[in-house]
Amino acid sequence: MPTTIDSRSTTEDDITAEVLRRFETTPDARLREIMLALVRHLHGFVKDVQLTEREWFEAIQFLTETGRMCDERRQEFILLSDTLGVSMVVDLINHRKPKGATESTVFGPFHRDGAPEMAPGGNIAPRDWDGTPTVITGCVRDLNGNPIAGARLDVWQADSTGLYDSQYPDPEELHMRGLFRTDGEGRYVVRTVRPVHYAIPNDGPVGRMLRATNRHPWRPAHVHFVVSADACEPVTTHIFDDEDPYLASDTVFAVKDSLICHFVRHDERDEAARRFGLDPPFYTVDFDFVLKPRA
Ligand code: BEZ
Ligand code: FE
Repeated sequence: MPTTIDSRSTTEDDITAEVLRRFETTPDARLREIMLALVRHLHGFVKDVQLTEREWFEAIQFLTETGRMCDERRQEFILLSDTLGVSMVVDLINHRKPKGATESTVFGPFHRDGAPEMAPGGNIAPRDWDGTPTVITGCVRDLNGNPIAGARLDVWQADSTGLYDSQYPDPEELHMRGLFRTDGEGRYVVRTVRPVHYAIPNDGPVGRMLRATNRHPWRPAHVHFVVSADACEPVTTHIFDDEDPYLASDTVFAVKDSLICHFVRHDERDEAARRFGLDPPFYTVDFDFVLKPRA
């Protein structure tokens, strides 16, 4: 006989208890744990704020619009997760690093497969004529300090107007991306332009949420990396420019102190100008990645 709820004495807590009871027999233990916690937190939240029917329907419309905004080039749900800080909490839980290993941060929605393989010093910004040339150098090492030869670096960033290639009209065009390998001494060299701070896409429901809550949409200047090597855990991370005004208020909460670097300005025909074949002004920045062994 199915159990029925006595409608005369049904309270909010009775409903919560009954919903929890229905999920009790979920065969998969992890799914059961997740569903029970989800119901507890979701019901707790609704009771906490005493959600009105109008607010409930606004939330339904907001999520519907978030889904409608998604396609191959736009992921509004990831943006929502990022701006609510959920992505960074998930990142922190899942990528606990031993001391000395490079910290991870959000992947973001702008990575694309198919970036061209480039030789050391390859320019990922060949059509960004307005950006200031910048060379990123460094070493990929293991936790014992040994250089890793043949490590792979997948690099991408926004151009000097603050836009990613996928935000331009031609969806096929790849720009500001490259795949690099370290040399025999674990060293890499990436030519690009100095990154700028940019606003995340804010013409959709996430933008509306930011404006309604008096939040800005800016991300501090950064370059994205996924660094990987055999026998090591890959790290998805950024390097950040230490002069950026949005370091303390990144709209997706992704800044970690260990990822902040200084971009050195060169105004003379110095040794770096000769080494990289650049006319001043240009910038150089050095950052070593340290990978932890695969579990
Ligand atoms: C990004 O850095 O590309 C990014 C990360 C989170 C949200 C939007 C953009
Ligand atoms: Fe980015």
